[in-house]
Amino acid sequence: MATTRRPPPPPPHRLAALALESLAGPSLLVDGELRVVASSPGVAALLGAPVPEGALVTRALCGPSVDRPIAAALASGRAVDGTVTRARPDGATVTLRVRASPLRDGGALAGWLLHVSAREETDGDAPDAPVRFQGMLTRDPAMKQVFHVLRRAARRDVPVLVRGETGAGKELVARAIHDLSPRARGPYKAINCAALPPSLLESELFGHVKGSFTGATRDHAGIFRATDKGTLFLDEIAEMPVELQAKLLRVLETRTVIPVGGSEAVAVNVRIVAATHQSLRRAVERGTFRADLMYRLRVVPLFLPPLRARRGDVALLVRHLVDELNGAGERHVTRVAPGALAALERYPWPGNVRELRNALEYAFVIGEGPVLTEADLPPEVNRTELDEEPAAAAVDTDTGAAATPEAQRIRRALERAGGNRTRAAKILGVSRVTLWRRMRELSLAG
Ligand SMILES: Nc1ncnc2c1ncn2[C@@H]1O[C@H](COP(=O)(O)OP(=O)(O)OP(=O)(O)O)[C@@H](O)[C@H]1O
Ligand SMILES: [Mg+2]
Repeated sequence: MATTRRPPPPPPHRLAALALESLAGPSLLVDGELRVVASSPGVAALLGAPVPEGALVTRALCGPSVDRPIAAALASGRAVDGTVTRARPDGATVTLRVRASPLRDGGALAGWLLHVSAREETDGDAPDAPVRFQGMLTRDPAMKQVFHVLRRAARRDVPVLVRGETGAGKELVARAIHDLSPRARGPYKAINCAALPPSLLESELFGHVKGSFTGATRDHAGIFRATDKGTLFLDEIAEMPVELQAKLLRVLETRTVIPVGGSEAVAVNVRIVAATHQSLRRAVERGTFRADLMYRLRVVPLFLPPLRARRGDVALLVRHLVDELNGAGERHVTRVAPGALAALERYPWPGNVRELRNALEYAFVIGEGPVLTEADLPPEVNRTELDEEPAAAAVDTDTGAAATPEAQRIRRALERAGGNRTRAAKILGVSRVTLWRRMRELSLAG
C-alpha cells in the first residue's frame, strides 16, 4: 500500500508568510493598526525569536526604547528606510535595516509591508566590501588584488598577460590597462588570434604590400601600425600558430614590423596586453607555444578568478546587471526573489559574468512583473538537487502511469516552467486544458 499521509495544510497566514519570504525575503505584513498579520521565517531568524501574529510591529521590532524613528514614521503613515538596534534573547545585539512601504487599497492606507535585513556592512576597508573599478564590480579579495596590480602595471609600459575563463572579464581588464596608462589617448585595438586562419591573421597583424598574394590588391598597414602609440590586445594568444609566434617575437624585440611581401622594417611603438583562457606554460610544455615568447608576454601576469570562485560577487553583479537591464527594456524589476538569488549563487557559471548577464536577460524576457523569481531563470540555472526527486517519486505512486515517458515529459516541462502550468503547456506545445486533462489521467495533478 502506497498511501502517502500528507501533513495538514498550513493555515493561510503561514502560507502568506512563506510567500512573503519567497518573494521579498525576510518581511512582515502589517495591518493599518500596525498589528502583525504575517511574519516570514527570516524575520524570526534575524530577531532570534518568532513574531506573534497580532503583536504590535513597533514593539516587536523597535522594542520599548524611547528613540523610535521607525515607529514614529509608521504612526504618521510615511514610508521609511531606517535601522533599529535590538538585543536578541540569546544576548547578541543586532542592527537591522527596516524598509517599510505603505500598502494602499484604493486611496486608503490598508497596511504595511516591512522588509527586514541585517544591515549592510558599509565599512570600505572591510575585506569583502564591494568596489567598482573601471566598470568592474567585485567584493572578492583576489579580484581586488588583481585591480591593485593592474593599477600599478598600467602606468609602466610592461606587457601584461591576462588569464581567465571565458566571460571572466579579460577584455575589460585589457581596456582598463589602456585607459589607466599614459597611452590612454592613443589607439586601443583588439584582435582575436583564434578567430582568423593563419595567413589572414598574419596580414591583419603585420600588414601586407600590394601584390604579395592573390587578393592583396593594395597595401595594408596591419594592426600593429594602426595601433602606433597605443595598446594592442592580443586575445586567445595561445591559439597563435607557431610560425606567427616567431614573427611576433621579432616584432617585440626589434620594435619594427615587416609587412607580408615587404622588405622594409617599419618602426612601431605598441604596448601589448595578451589574454588566454588556458595556461601558456602548459602550451609551452606541449610544444605549441614558444617559451621565449611566453616570457616576453607574461612580465606581469594577471589571473582572473572564475565567478564560481567568488560567489559573493554574484549578488553584487545581479544587482548591477538588473539595473542595467531595467534601463534597456520594458520590464522593470525592483526585487530579485531570495529563491532566485540562491539559485544564481548555487550555479557554477561556466560562462562566468557573460553567462550571468545572459541568464538575467532571459529572465527579464520570460518573466513578468517587478519581482524576478526562480521560475524566470533558465532551466539549467534552476536545476537543484531536488531534480532527482520526481523520478524517485514516480516509483512509489500506485499507478504505473506516472512513470511513463509522457508523464516524465510533463514533469520536466513543469519543472522548467517552475510549476506554472500555462508556461509548461507552451513548452509542450499543447493547450492548458489538454495539459490539465493529461495530468489528471496520469495522476500527476495534485
Ligand atoms: N567584474 C565585472 N563587473 C561587471 N561586469 C563584468 C565583470 N567581469 C565581466 N563583466 C562583463 O561580462 C562580460 C564578459 O566580459 P569580457 O568580455 O571581458 O570577458 P572575456 O574574459 O574577455 O571573455 P572571452 O574569453 O569569452 O572573450 C562583459 O559584458 C563584461 O562587461
Ligand atoms: Mg574577450
